Amino acid sequence: MVTSSAPGKVYLFGEHAVVYGEPAVPCAIERRARVTAREIDEGLRIHSEDLQLDGFTVEYEGDGEGRPDVDASEPLLEAAMGYVNEAVAQVRDAADAPGAGFEIRIESDIPLGAGLGSSAAVVVAAIDAATRELGVELSPEAIAERAYQVEAAVQDGEASRADTFCSAVGGAVRVEGEDCRTVDGVGNLPFVIGYDGGAGDTGTLVAGVRSLREEYDFAADTVRAIGDVVREGESVLGTDDYETLGDLMDFNHGLLSALGVSSRSLDSMVWAARDAGAMGAKLTGAGGGGCIVALDDTEDALTALKYTPGCESVFRAELDTDGVRQE
Ligand code: MEV
Repeated sequence: MVTSSAPGKVYLFGEHAVVYGEPAVPCAIERRARVTAREIDEGLRIHSEDLQLDGFTVEYEGDGEGRPDVDASEPLLEAAMGYVNEAVAQVRDAADAPGAGFEIRIESDIPLGAGLGSSAAVVVAAIDAATRELGVELSPEAIAERAYQVEAAVQDGEASRADTFCSAVGGAVRVEGEDCRTVDGVGNLPFVIGYDGGAGDTGTLVAGVRSLREEYDFAADTVRAIGDVVREGESVLGTDDYETLGDLMDFNHGLLSALGVSSRSLDSMVWAARDAGAMGAKLTGAGGGGCIVALDDTEDALTALKYTPGCESVFRAELDTDGVRQE
């Protein structure tokens, strides 16, 4: 039996545009998914008690082939099981063990579908734990590539390498197409996360941006402008110029809003953080609901978000320089 863990992430800049080859800078945070894998005779059994913050329990038994048969009234859980199913297919391929069966237990402090990279963290940790259980040790980069294949399969080809690479290697990373690298010298940025208790469906949100981009040249320009914001942001990353970084986060949020991926609760958390003096604030991840990330080195945004209607929880997130690891 092997347990591995992998971190969630926030996007400093660049979500959605990264799907179309623009650069993005996600940062791993100290919130982890832990996956325990035990080899069994055949099939796939998945247990999870805390994939959602309200403690919903799911027990799934399947054969590890195709889409899992879980209660469709819980689409997020169905999606999560889909990710684990595909991850097991990658493990069997990596270990050249097509018939390997697994019992998988998932524990996670990362809310599902909330923009903090829960699916990538679960997939990365699952691939590491299950391959090790079969006696195969993959590098973080190899795990990242296999985890990306999982996300691409589950999201019908609409995925970037950003979430999975960041979770596998940890720290701040830069992803542009297939070029994935660690960004050195980024210290502990003063991130404050606000969570509205909700979630967005990544596949639907990505598809929405794709059709806007195909329909309107100005939507395609908006995607390119996000890339410009990232390139500008890179010039101050690693310095203590948080004011410029914050301004660029604000700009990035505006562009994501224009692409239709923000929501009333995300906007109100962003504005509450800004009104409290945060240097910048934006949604993180696919949007639609879930989390915002603000930059604030005082306690003010944290306190303001506690009292913001629609904000269910708020916490500070430290940069996690560790990626996937065996526990
Ligand atoms: C989702 O966490 C980030 C998106 O850019 C999709 C992706 O990069 O695969 C919206």
